[in-house]
Amino acid sequence: MVEEIIIAGIGGSLRNGSYNGFLLKACQKAMPQGSRLEILNIANLPLYNQDEENKPSAEVAEFKSGIRKAHGVLFVTPEYNYSVPGFLKNAIDIASRPVSENPFMGKPAGIMSASMGQFGGMRAQYHLRQILVYLDMVPIQKPEIFVSGAHAVFDAEGNITDADLAKRIAQYMAKLVDRSRKLKA
Ligand SMILES: Cc1cc2nc3c(=O)[nH]c(=O)nc-3n(C[C@H](O)[C@H](O)[C@H](O)COP(=O)(O)O)c2cc1C
Repeated sequence: MVEEIIIAGIGGSLRNGSYNGFLLKACQKAMPQGSRLEILNIANLPLYNQDEENKPSAEVAEFKSGIRKAHGVLFVTPEYNYSVPGFLKNAIDIASRPVSENPFMGKPAGIMSASMGQFGGMRAQYHLRQILVYLDMVPIQKPEIFVSGAHAVFDAEGNITDADLAKRIAQYMAKLVDRSRKLKA
């Protein structure tokens, strides 16, 4: 029997109605057969404090375990001041420690962003790529998905109204799942 591929989804923003949250949910719906996207909650994580590294709270332990059991990770991030939001960097920092237990290591990473601006969060993605180098992840290089003008791309329920974008997302998730299956083997 072929093992199901699990992708951990990290992202969105903390606000209700987040376009990145809508995008993450759209990715979840677009998963190919034999795979699933498990969205991990980062809203309740504490601020990283090295004193707590060896005694993680229940939220931290659950978050790390969600990444550990996944075969790949999808980051869907807003752009804040030309970079990734602090809450996302904080979540990555928390999960990445101690270094000997880094659950991201060697896993494929997908990256998407949505912004109301015309660049679709491009600058945040390139900062995130730099972070993924230290995490020792294997990012998808092409295609890149920058959702610009995000306020015009989703309806009030968060469904994608742009058929071309929906198609590109499905293709991207198929590629991420395929890469995850190959790397697992
Ligand atoms: C603190 C802050 C900084 C922002 N900086 C940028 C930015 O650098 N580039 C950009 O395109 N949009 C920027 N925005 C606008 C966000 O792209 C927009 O609020 C977007 O909807 C956030 O994603 P969300 O809908 O998932 O919350 C910023 C928003 C906030 C709150």
